[in-house]
Amino acid sequence: MSEEQLSMVQIDVLLSAAVSAPSMHNTQPWRFEVNGRVIDVFLDGARALPAEDPTGRAMRIAAGAATFNLRCAAASLGYDSWFGLVPDPTEPELVARMVLEPTDTPDRKLTELFLQIPRRHTSREPVRAVNVPTDALIALTQAARTENADLTWLPAVAVHEVLGLLIDTDLREIGDWHRRAERAHWVGGVRATDGVPSSVLGPRSASYPSPVRDLGTRPTDRTRARATFEAEPALAVLFTTGDSTVDQLAAGLALQRTLLVATREGLKAAFLNQPLEFDDLRRKVQGITGKPGFAHMVIRFGHSTVQDTTPRRPVADFVHTGAEKS
Ligand SMILES: Cc1cc2nc3c(=O)[nH]c(=O)nc-3n(C[C@H](O)[C@H](O)[C@H](O)COP(=O)(O)O)c2cc1C
Repeated sequence: MSEEQLSMVQIDVLLSAAVSAPSMHNTQPWRFEVNGRVIDVFLDGARALPAEDPTGRAMRIAAGAATFNLRCAAASLGYDSWFGLVPDPTEPELVARMVLEPTDTPDRKLTELFLQIPRRHTSREPVRAVNVPTDALIALTQAARTENADLTWLPAVAVHEVLGLLIDTDLREIGDWHRRAERAHWVGGVRATDGVPSSVLGPRSASYPSPVRDLGTRPTDRTRARATFEAEPALAVLFTTGDSTVDQLAAGLALQRTLLVATREGLKAAFLNQPLEFDDLRRKVQGITGKPGFAHMVIRFGHSTVQDTTPRRPVADFVHTGAEKS
């Protein structure tokens, strides 16, 4: 093995971290190529969601989040990571290229956040004490800023405006069999490698509109137990000033840094992204923040002890190394 080559153990650490990132419906829409100390991150078009994510924005956010995890894992292994998000028209599925350089002083913050990767899970449970402490609020806002995105916390009036948009979304979805069929394909039941298992859907909400998205489509999921959710959820909108493919990848990096800082602060996150899947409602969400830009994620934060885990495909399914190719 040349000095330039990462060992299989290192590749496993890097890629296991990458694929722990969140992705819409846990599609894991990525693949990776490792050549020497260069890691390329690609979108996996076979895992697209044409009905719910026709432009691929959610895929790019997921790929950005996986790229952030790669950076954390690289730091934990004693590497600096240099990366570019510039799209290459000749290779449209290539979204990021990362080069690892050995260092005696790996980024301490990334190393710390690496420890949070296995602890972060989306939680669709009711949460306790929605008053997020000021220190945590600031840390989360700064996390997004570090990755060139904004996290705006919504005051109570704005929270209710966003919840109001969820009624609109539900009405649109009722008549859209394509969206419902796509969701049924990815959500519900027992899942070994991808998709969202019934076990992590959380309870149904006793009130409507609910501060948690009910992803259930199957008859058994639609009759699961109900619970009372917080009336004043802590909601924040993650957005960027532009909406290019690079902005969407940057939003993914910012999302993951924010979620890992939240995990460190003892907070769980869930997402109310359904209005963002319709262009007009996405603009309304952005309008509700009172700031110019393009909303990427509506995030609900809170304290919960529930650990809901989703499966991942084995690393060998989505990585190619230079050694294999030659
Ligand atoms: C771009 C994007 C959009 C998402 N939208 C939602 C959503 O609207 N509602 C929801 O409950 N979860 C949403 N999720 C969370 C995924 O369902 C979750 O990340 C996936 O099932 C993997 O689970 P984990 O986050 O616990 O690892 C979204 C994730 C991403 C990256």
